[in-house]
Amino acid sequence: MNRKFEGKTAFITGGGSGLGEAIAKDFALQGANVVIFDISVENGKRIEEEIQSKGGHALFTEGDVKNSKSVEECVAKAFDKFGTVDFLINSAGILRDGLIHKLSEEKWDLVMNINLKGSFLCLKECSKRWIEAVKNNRKEHIVDYPDKRVINISSIASEGSIGQINYVASKAGIIGLTKTAAMELIRYNIRTHAIMPTLIETPILGDVLEKEDGKWRKYYEGRIPLGIGKPRYVSDAIQFLCSEDSWFMNGVILPINGGRLGPL
Ligand SMILES: NC(=O)c1ccc[n+]([C@@H]2O[C@H](COP(=O)([O-])OP(=O)(O)OC[C@H]3O[C@@H](n4cnc5c(N)ncnc54)[C@H](O)[C@@H]3O)[C@@H](O)[C@H]2O)c1
Repeated sequence: MNRKFEGKTAFITGGGSGLGEAIAKDFALQGANVVIFDISVENGKRIEEEIQSKGGHALFTEGDVKNSKSVEECVAKAFDKFGTVDFLINSAGILRDGLIHKLSEEKWDLVMNINLKGSFLCLKECSKRWIEAVKNNRKEHIVDYPDKRVINISSIASEGSIGQINYVASKAGIIGLTKTAAMELIRYNIRTHAIMPTLIETPILGDVLEKEDGKWRKYYEGRIPLGIGKPRYVSDAIQFLCSEDSWFMNGVILPINGGRLGPL
């Protein structure tokens, strides 16, 4: 079988659950070495073992995306183990919802630090290494440098969502971060994209879809023409953005919207 990412390395933050877990497993199936960077040791180890038991190459690194020292250490482990990173996929994220007048400063800071600052810190750490390699081996054309991809996970919620001001601000911030990185880094053959998924059924939702006799499940099923999403729909789009098929694209902000245009 011709596997898309044979010999490539994907560094996936939040790779221990939900979207990150699906991405890690799918990239491993496509031949990639997969680095799972997560704060949850239990989940990270579970995914690492699952991938290895199927003959894939996986490394779990325990870390906290909002802590620069921790990011530095985990990125260093990935480069040491696999030689480089080809795809940085920033999937670590949390929700701490609340209405504006009730939301604590702690919840604001935590969400911004994990969702937005965490994406910046990982981008910074990988870019530092990628740029250094380019500067040590100058080429005439951009495309002659190693092809690197960064995929950030924004959300349809970046367009506005009641009770989620911290989350929305962090996900809108990711769009600005992505566009800036796309402009700044393409000279090194680094392409940066963001995806904006609609509601996807993963552990981040807690019991939202089950509580009140499934009231919210019915509500979202009514709002999303193609239904509540599955993690593999996101993984498929990310595989496209990391593949040869999208090599001529940069700074794409891709909605994965289940058929719905506009806010949920
Ligand atoms: N599920 C959805 O409906 C949806 C929709 C749009 C965007 N997103 C975004 O997709 C991303 C993944 O979400 P998910 O649905 O897979 O959630 P999830 O809760 O299943 O997975 C998030 C992962 O991030 C990890 N994590 C949390 N804080 C961390 C930290 N400080 N350092 C390292 N790892 C940390 C968690 O341990 C977990 O493994 C998030 O950024 C989320 O905002 C999700």
